Amino acid sequence: MQTITLGQDGPTVTALGIGTWAWGDKLFWSYGSDYGVAQVKEAFEATLDSGISFFDTAEIYGLGESETLLGRFMKEQGRSAQIATKYFPVPWRFTDQSVSDALTESLKRLQVEQVALYQVHMPFSFFMSQETLMNALADEVKRGRIATVGVSNYSAQQMREAHGYLAARGVPLAVNQVPYSLLGRKIEINGILDTARELGVTILAYSPLAQGLLTGKYTLEKYIEPTGARRIDPRFSKSGLEKIALVMKVLHQLGEKYDRTPAQVSLNWLIAQGVVPIPGAKTAQQAIQNSGALGWSLAQEEVAQLEQVTRPWLN
Ligand SMILES: NC(=O)c1ccc[n+]([C@@H]2O[C@H](COP(=O)([O-])OP(=O)(O)OC[C@H]3O[C@@H](n4cnc5c(N)ncnc54)[C@H](OP(=O)(O)O)[C@@H]3O)[C@@H](O)[C@H]2O)c1
Repeated sequence: MQTITLGQDGPTVTALGIGTWAWGDKLFWSYGSDYGVAQVKEAFEATLDSGISFFDTAEIYGLGESETLLGRFMKEQGRSAQIATKYFPVPWRFTDQSVSDALTESLKRLQVEQVALYQVHMPFSFFMSQETLMNALADEVKRGRIATVGVSNYSAQQMREAHGYLAARGVPLAVNQVPYSLLGRKIEINGILDTARELGVTILAYSPLAQGLLTGKYTLEKYIEPTGARRIDPRFSKSGLEKIALVMKVLHQLGEKYDRTPAQVSLNWLIAQGVVPIPGAKTAQQAIQNSGALGWSLAQEEVAQLEQVTRPWLN
């Protein structure tokens, strides 16, 4: 199994993780209608069976339900996993005690004593300064309740600032979790990727399948409407699908060569960039397919071909 170290000396995790936002979430995804607890439980088992043990969740996913489900599955099946969860800086959290309390609740839902990674979900610092926040997180590393600290949706400058506050406490910043896919390449030009490389921060690529677009499931020929909030996302409209037709053609061609799906080729391209994709999966079938992004590599010229054809998505 391909593995990677988070940050400079964080935990070693599988080179591909799994995202669990859709587990229990009814606001964006349609949990409870076209899929539910049985499907996500199977996805949990299939993920571990395929050798992937790195799960991304957050206290706000399903308002705690994603963490609760993960905790329940681990307990019921007697299986452990490396969990990355997130703290949400809501306005009424303005002291370091809020960080400690939020972590206590996450650990309870997850039924564990420590998480591999604790990330700040958004760079909001209006109610609590980054300095207070990073110090509270460093305290939790010292207490042993989190193995490493991460941030999410931080700009290059915000990442540098967080890195500095943590470094003063002798704690490395392990990750910045940001959107990154063949159809969302902004981090390559806005300084995030370069700064992460300079500081030794691992990039976790969220929405790596562009929320399903890169799977090849949504096509003009056999138009199916996506579920949930994606219905109003113009990228999933007929004109949106027209714009990605060439990219999908190349993904299909490369997929045929390696006997892989467009999703697997897309995730393999991200791995070639040195980042850790965390594709969301609602079913065992999706989890198994996504795990097939590991164990093989696109040739250098194929990585370059995909880079070339997706240049419009750099902006
Ligand atoms: N930090 C943040 O602010 C943030 C924001 C967003 C996401 N995330 C994290 O990143 C994870 C992944 O992002 P995401 O869920 O937004 O997008 P994604 O991984 O690009 O897309 C996931 C969706 O694509 C479809 N899919 C996945 N694998 C498939 C396959 N093999 N075949 C066919 N369809 C497949 C599923 O939806 P359908 O079956 O309905 O098409 C699935 O829910 C989340 O779960 C979460 O952990 C973090």
